[in-house]
Amino acid sequence: MSQKLALFGGKPVRTTPFTRWPVFGKTEEKRLLRTLHSGKWGRLQGNEVALFESRFAAEHGCKHGIAVVNGTVSLRIGLLAAGIQAEDEVIVPPYTFFSTASAVVEANAVPVFADVDLETFNICPKAIEAAITPRTKAIIPVHFAGQVADMTAIMAIAKRRKLIVIEDAAHAHGGRFKDQPAGSVGHLGSFSFQSSKNMTSGEGGIITTNDDDLAEACRSIQSCGRIPGGLWYEHHVMSGNYRLGEFQGAILNCQLDRLETQTRKRDQNGQYLAAKLNDLPGIFPQKRPTGCTRHSYHLFMLRVDAARFGAHRNEVIKALQAEGIPCSGGYVVSLPNQPFFRNKAFGPYIPKAADRLDYTKSKIPNSDLLCDQTIWLEQSLFLGSRKDMDDIARAFEKVYDNRNALSKNASPL
Ligand SMILES: Cc1ncc(COP(=O)(O)O)c(C=O)c1O
Repeated sequence: MSQKLALFGGKPVRTTPFTRWPVFGKTEEKRLLRTLHSGKWGRLQGNEVALFESRFAAEHGCKHGIAVVNGTVSLRIGLLAAGIQAEDEVIVPPYTFFSTASAVVEANAVPVFADVDLETFNICPKAIEAAITPRTKAIIPVHFAGQVADMTAIMAIAKRRKLIVIEDAAHAHGGRFKDQPAGSVGHLGSFSFQSSKNMTSGEGGIITTNDDDLAEACRSIQSCGRIPGGLWYEHHVMSGNYRLGEFQGAILNCQLDRLETQTRKRDQNGQYLAAKLNDLPGIFPQKRPTGCTRHSYHLFMLRVDAARFGAHRNEVIKALQAEGIPCSGGYVVSLPNQPFFRNKAFGPYIPKAADRLDYTKSKIPNSDLLCDQTIWLEQSLFLGSRKDMDDIARAFEKVYDNRNALSKNASPL
């Protein structure tokens, strides 16, 4: 006889908390105080951000790192630096955070959606090919959940069609594809240090590249259009002040010290949990292609096929939460179905394209299915022990054993 679900008054699988996020300690405290007392609080006075830029870039196989205020602006700066012009098209996945596509609009370019793969949850190279038009100038693959997209296929398409590739690696700090670090395979990489990310300073972002000219262009746009050797009040290109401050730099230097150990732990735990859940009917964890040599597990993502599992994702989430497992369903609509795209609320941007665009016609069945079927578990859970993983797996099994009770009592999330 299976145990009663906590949702219906049974004993929860788990009552102790998982690893809390952010992880920080005395090193952050010391470095922040040192920065405070130095009086050098800005990028232009201190050395914390400059040091972090070079360390983060080196850890990610790149010559250059340009730290900026967040991982949205980093995408936009990358597009501008790469020479994207008004109304050019940029291919993006429909299953990603808003910023991947809004940054394109903010660069005065047109996002074009190419569907994701139903097994890897990453942008599908075949869909990219199908989305290319004479106006296409760039692709932004997202390394969703921390698993690097199929960069071999994407770079081959880019080479053939002369397109720029900006890796949206907002989830993929420390991730690797065929042993190459995320952010080093495309022409440019973009990372976020927003609160939920695998390393954080509350807000922040960085652009990575091995291309000297792109690095110089990014640096100029990040700092008011200045150029090396130019006068201080000499401004050359459309730009702004997107520099990161020294307090954030100080925290990020400490967070980076922990990244390698934390990433290894997340990857080990994530693989262990995926293996345990794989045998449950109707449960499909994100498939790991052989090219993924390190998953950074910003999210552990899986799909629940209601017909095979016996209950809908929403019911499963409620039951898991009651069992003491923090989780969510993630996005509930694909990006082209967001009011912003449906209503073409682009403000002053892409006026010509806005007239002809109709995002309601985007063909994105896989992304739509993911919006209905996925469960997300956040990265901090994967910094814990094997027992934590066993508890998560046990909760899934318990929910499966009670699937009939669950579907009988179904209610809105
Ligand atoms: C895939 C992806 N790209 C870009 C961003 C934007 O990063 P930020 O919040 O630092 O602007 C996020 C943030 O959640 C993200 O998930």
